[in-house]
Amino acid sequence: MAKKVLVTGGAGYIGSHTVVELIKSGYDPVILDDYRNSDASVLKRLAQIIGKEPEHIVCDVCDQQMLEHIIETHSISGVIHFAAYKAVGESVENPLKYYSNNIAGLVSVLNVIKQNPEIPFVFSSSCTVYGEPEGLKEVDEKTAKSIPTSPYGYTKWLGEQIIEDLFLANKKARMMSLRYFNPIGAHESGLIGELPVGKPNNLLPFITQTAAGIQDKLFIFGQDYPTSDGTCVRDYIHVVDLAEAHVKAMDHLLSLQKGCHETVNVGTGKGTSVLELVRAFEKENNVELNYTFGPKRSGDVIEIYANVDYAFSLLGWRSTRDIKDAVRSAWKWEKSIRNIK
Ligand code: UFG
Repeated sequence: MAKKVLVTGGAGYIGSHTVVELIKSGYDPVILDDYRNSDASVLKRLAQIIGKEPEHIVCDVCDQQMLEHIIETHSISGVIHFAAYKAVGESVENPLKYYSNNIAGLVSVLNVIKQNPEIPFVFSSSCTVYGEPEGLKEVDEKTAKSIPTSPYGYTKWLGEQIIEDLFLANKKARMMSLRYFNPIGAHESGLIGELPVGKPNNLLPFITQTAAGIQDKLFIFGQDYPTSDGTCVRDYIHVVDLAEAHVKAMDHLLSLQKGCHETVNVGTGKGTSVLELVRAFEKENNVELNYTFGPKRSGDVIEIYANVDYAFSLLGWRSTRDIKDAVRSAWKWEKSIRNIK
């Protein structure tokens, strides 16, 4: 029988793509979401991709009693925990919203894992734990963590620490923190993708909304950074590659006979500047983008990209899609939700 994997935040951007890849790999995902930051219409769109609506439960991840009940009654074999807030700027304005939800949600899930240490656990962490790398811009998992620059960043930084501490006290638990670099793109069907609530903060949704005429103009934040073209450099990872990494993480944890807490970079290993991403979007989609240079955004890391050797040696995973695939799929998705031909 297919193993059931509980996917908290499974209706969200990365969660919904992971649900698809779990099914493709023979798992039976159960979505847990209360749709506060997602839209239940994703279920119908998932059904178009995978042939049926995935099992879904409306629940706040902080509701530990309910989680315990679900784990027991659904014979859950693994948990992937996405459900959390993720807007860096909002976290600075409203830190308690982030600490109460992201930390309490994680602790609630981990309490259930503590009671059921045979259930593998995968956590959505972020390259934000590295901060601005000193010297080399390519970071590996041994690169020192740095003091986060936002409450959001602290919730990931602290989240990893909480998992580590739980492991030290419960050596049977099998856990993995995946440090995402910059997820972009959408499923090739154009049926699921990123759906920002309000004005997008992230680069590619802002680009696609500008191309769709929803935003007037894209501002590139800063043009005289010490990088190849003066704009910031990130490691943009296609969301479907990222989703596949979660499946590999679950496969790996399930295969282990002993406990662990692994931290693994999930990126492409390649840096791309803001300007390069903008130009790739224009070229691949044959669209002219209205953009200009604006002031630097405070707190922006100048340049960072992943060393991905450990993901390959541990999980046998590496990214297979590139920036071109990502900008094409993101535009296909934006056009499909805006009814643009
Ligand atoms: N950018 C612009 N204009 C925009 C939006 C973004 O020029 O309108 C630039 C940013 O200045 C940055 C790059 O595009 O140089 C990427 O910005 P994003 O906001 O898309 O991504 P960040 O790298 O700032 O943040 C991402 C995730 C966070 C995570 C962080 C870790 O969104 O969740 O990586 O470094 F914490």
